[in-house]
Amino acid sequence: MALLFKSIFDKPEEWLRFLNDYGANVEMRVWPETGPAEDIEFALVWRPEPGDLKRYPNLKAIFSIGAGVDHIFADTDLPKGVPVCRIKDTDLTAQMSEYAIYGVLHYHRHMADYARAQSESAWRKFPRGDTTRSRVGVMGIGEIGGDTARKLAALGFQVSGWSRAPKAIEGVECLHGAAALPRFLGQSQYLVCVLPLTPNTEGILNAKTLAQLPRGAFVVNMARGRHVVNEDLIAALDSGHLAGAMLDVFHKEPLPADDPLWKHPKIIVTPHIAGDLNPRTCAMQVAENIKRLRRGEALLNIVNPAEGY
Ligand code: GLV
Repeated sequence: MALLFKSIFDKPEEWLRFLNDYGANVEMRVWPETGPAEDIEFALVWRPEPGDLKRYPNLKAIFSIGAGVDHIFADTDLPKGVPVCRIKDTDLTAQMSEYAIYGVLHYHRHMADYARAQSESAWRKFPRGDTTRSRVGVMGIGEIGGDTARKLAALGFQVSGWSRAPKAIEGVECLHGAAALPRFLGQSQYLVCVLPLTPNTEGILNAKTLAQLPRGAFVVNMARGRHVVNEDLIAALDSGHLAGAMLDVFHKEPLPADDPLWKHPKIIVTPHIAGDLNPRTCAMQVAENIKRLRRGEALLNIVNPAEGY
């Protein structure tokens, strides 16, 4: 029995080494060289080929190479009843929080303005933002967003979190549901998006919601490109309503060279690096799940397909 691996971004041999170091004891088949379909017992995938996973009659679990699982649920023909598990990793969470904190501080401390001033050898000071009076809104306060919110609060920012269902995080004002969204947005001078991508959250940052942010707000999107309606974001930046945006994720990745986001003066583009999944740390939970499946035990980090996260 074997593990199917598919990802264009990750190195199969690295994963295999760590999986077996952690006792998974698996043979790996790298897609599309899968061998007989009956051999495949587990799948470890990023963006599986739509319709492919249902070809394996003995498939027992699908493991996402990522915290997000939208790339798996994009396949509308997944095998029925096969659990999907996501990655929850403290190293990945810490990287994502770092990215958000960097984005907020980059704008808050005028670093782009100082870089411009330096290019003119100009000793120019910009008005200091008052941290304790500045509010960051974190959309999505699960594993990653919760950590981001706590760390921003520890820096002294006022922090609100917004989620679908009620949550409680000490030191963070937690709001939930569609009814609370306008209030949440209305007070967020900095907006960090770390939501899972589901049919309910796709396009959630659009002309209407961006207009609800305070004038001069700064947006960090480290979730998925499809949370944002790009034309609406560009319009809000061009009109001066938004001050800037730092984007790590895009509708199409790699971001095409002719995409206007690359050249927009108020946008910072990074190539989906907010969280770089480390097989050394992440393979442990996949190996653990493989061992649990063999022992007939409940799996870790199962995703609820109805919620899509
Ligand atoms: C990366 O985008 C992930 O889902 O972990």
